[in-house]
This record gives sequence, structure tokens and C-alpha cells, in this order.
Amino acid sequence: MKADLIIKNISNLVTIGEGKSPKRGQEMDNIEILENGYIIVKDGKFLEVGTGIIDLKHIGIKTIVKDGTGMTVTPGLIDPHTHLVHGGSRENEFAQKLQGVPYMDILNAGGGILSTVNSTKEATFEELYDKAKKSLDIMLSFGVTTVEAKSGYGLDLETEMKQLEVVKKLNEDHPIDLVSTYLGAHAVPPKYKSNPDKFVDEIIEGLPQIMESGLAEFCDVFCEEGVFSVEQTRKILNAAKELGFKIKIHADEIVTLGGAELAAELGAFSADHLMATSEHGIKQMAEKGVIADILPTTSFNLNKEYANARLMIEEGVAVALSTDYNPGSSPTENLQLAMQLGSLKLKMTPKEVISAVTINSAFSVDRGEEVGSITVGKKADFVVFDAPNLPYIMYHFGINHAKDVYKNGQQVVTEGKVLPMTKIPKIGSFIADCYGESKKIIQMNKINNK
Ligand code: NIG
Ligand code: FE
Repeated sequence: MKADLIIKNISNLVTIGEGKSPKRGQEMDNIEILENGYIIVKDGKFLEVGTGIIDLKHIGIKTIVKDGTGMTVTPGLIDPHTHLVHGGSRENEFAQKLQGVPYMDILNAGGGILSTVNSTKEATFEELYDKAKKSLDIMLSFGVTTVEAKSGYGLDLETEMKQLEVVKKLNEDHPIDLVSTYLGAHAVPPKYKSNPDKFVDEIIEGLPQIMESGLAEFCDVFCEEGVFSVEQTRKILNAAKELGFKIKIHADEIVTLGGAELAAELGAFSADHLMATSEHGIKQMAEKGVIADILPTTSFNLNKEYANARLMIEEGVAVALSTDYNPGSSPTENLQLAMQLGSLKLKMTPKEVISAVTINSAFSVDRGEEVGSITVGKKADFVVFDAPNLPYIMYHFGINHAKDVYKNGQQVVTEGKVLPMTKIPKIGSFIADCYGESKKIIQMNKINNK
């Protein structure tokens, strides 16, 4: 079978391994890295992965052949927690933040999330679309090929649906695959302040409409002191589960409330944040296989403590990492920064970090069967890093190491620049533009076979 694309001579090919399940605890540090590796792609999927010389039978006149000498190749990165679609920005709160006003105080004074709710209500579909598309382009340039995107800046059905419609349209138009989450319970609107349970009931009443619309696959709640209690979160998520939603929880971000334990009780795919989670919560997550989604750029930006990733890994939890991209607690699309903080602040090894942003993040958004590792049969989503080895990506921090990015076998970023993408189909076929290179490799193989 003639390949569409071949990358050969890859100095460090980080395949992760079989990629059939999340990597829990110490497994995170045990991944497959091939030296002098190659990838063969056909019809948007990995056809063959190996080391050394490529069998000539794969090379046809249309096969694109590229050289990976000096490069590190990983699976496409997966950002499993973002608030991608929102109106406006919050630099007007920056001075307050620098003076040490706590995140929750800004929210309680009607700013924070509530300020973005107003901007999102005011924004048109097109404005939200354009802003989010720009962010997706940035993410793609950093090597991110799958992104989870939450609603949560409407707090009314109409605006929440508007956000989710934007996610749907971007999923159709943009090379990045989007996984959609309904976060109607992100804050209590001021008019319900004296009776938050009424708002909880309204959210539950609205869940069937969200489910019927097909606009969201997951349901999430901001379970936090002064936002939604464990009881209220349990009520919403049980109702969501009954309707067929998969579950995530913003858990134990600021106060040790028991969000991690609740995630374990409900069989959530992930519990996210976890800066204040107790040892008991961590043990429960390990026991029930809940993925711990840690967001180190949020800790960095809020100047708060970091989640205890080491204890989680010791206890056998599968850890994922994400940006939490949002206009308040983490205004950055840069997943490589989250990876670098993962090493520098969470003390995760580079191998643990790459497991966290590939296979574990894939499973935390229920995409582990199709992405998250460079494995035959999975989608050919991968990143060519201009880095001699994996640790280098974490060590040389604050810059973008992604050189080329491929989505479904199609090149979408070249030399760090996103290619014009309006015409890029989700699964595309290739036009040979590297005929010269194909010829070169045929000659090389002839010499090698002598
Ligand atoms: O995950 N903590 C709650 N939600 C977001 C922040 C949203 C915002 O501040 O706009 C988070 O950090
Ligand atoms: Fe969040």
C-alpha cells in the first residue's frame, strides 16, 4: 500500500506505546520512545510506526517524504480543559489582582466570571467565533490538535447555547477537534444570590434541552465554596448523568470541599484543578479511576499553590495537564507552558508530562480510542518539535518548540506558522508536493539495500 506521508529518521519518536488505556501513577513515566524512528501515514491514520529503513513498497509517486533528523516527534497534544468561547477580556481586573485581591473576592463583587458573562451575552455569534478561532490557531501552532471547550459564560440557556453553537461550528471549520462541555453551573447569577437552589433547579430543568440539541457531550460544575456546594453539584451531575452526559468537575480549586471525592462517587471522567484536594480525595480518585486534570498555568497566574501531582502519581492516579484557557484565572492558550510548569512546579518528569498531555488527556475527554498515542490505526495527529529530545521541551521554557503540526495526516502548521486552513478538510487526501524528496529516499534505500 502506497503511503500518503512518511516522516523518516526521527531522532526521538515518542509514540507513548499501545495507548489503549490512560497511564496511571508510575506507568506515566514508562513510555515508548524510538530512536531513528519513522511514521507512515495513509488515509489520515498511522499505517506503520517503526525504526530504521522504510520498506520501499510504501513509497509511490504521490508519497510525501520528510526527514526528522534532529527532531522529537510526539502525538498531537490534547488540551482537556478550556473555556475557549467567551466575550471580552479582563485586564481591567489586573491591577486589583496584582494588589492581592483574591480571585473569589473579585467574583463576589460582581466581577470575574460575572463580568465575562456580560461580555459574552453582548457578543454576537460571529464575534465569539472569530475570537475563539484566533485562540484555536494559537493552540494549533503550539502543537495542540484536540481541545475540550466549555460553555459557562451565559448562565442562561440562550447564551450557553450560543457558546455551544460556536464550538460546534468551529469543530466543523477548524482542524482542531473540539470536545464540548456544558458548564451552565459556572457561577450563580446575581438575581439568584438569595436563592441559589432555585438556579440549581433551573439548570436541571434545562439539561434535557442541551442533551437534545446534541451540543454538549460532557457536563461540568464549578464546585467551590460560595459557588456550588457538593450537594448542589451532586444534584446537577446526577441529573446530567441520567440524561447521558459524561461528567467533569471543577473540584477543590481553592477550598478543600470534597470535589475529588464527589468525582469518584459519580464516576466522573476527570476532576479538574485539585489544588486543595485532600489525601483522601486523591485515594478515592485512584480507586475509581478518575483522571486528575491539573492546571498549573492557573496556579501560576493566580499566584496560588500547585496541585500535589507527586502524591497523585504515587497513589496511582492518572494525571492530565491543561491550560484552563479563560479570561480570568488563566489567560493563555500555551499548553507547552503548562507542560513546562508541570515539570518545574509539579515536579513531573518529562515522560510523565508528555503522558499527561497525550494519552491521559485523550482519555479524560473520552477520545483515547482514536488519539493520544502514535499507534497504528489511530488518527495521524502528531507534532514535530524542533528539539533534540523530550526533556529539552520542558527545560528550554517559555518558547514554542513546535515546528510542524499534522492533523489527520495533513500538515496544518509549518515552521511554527498555521497554514491557511479554510479549505482543510477534517480528513484530507494529499497532493504530492515533495516529489523530489520521494525520489531522494528511493535512491537512499537502493543504496542501503545493496
Ligand atoms: O477553571 N474556576 C472556575 N472557572 C475558571 C475560571 C473562569 C474565569 O475566571 O473566567 C477556571 O479557573
Ligand atoms: Fe476551568
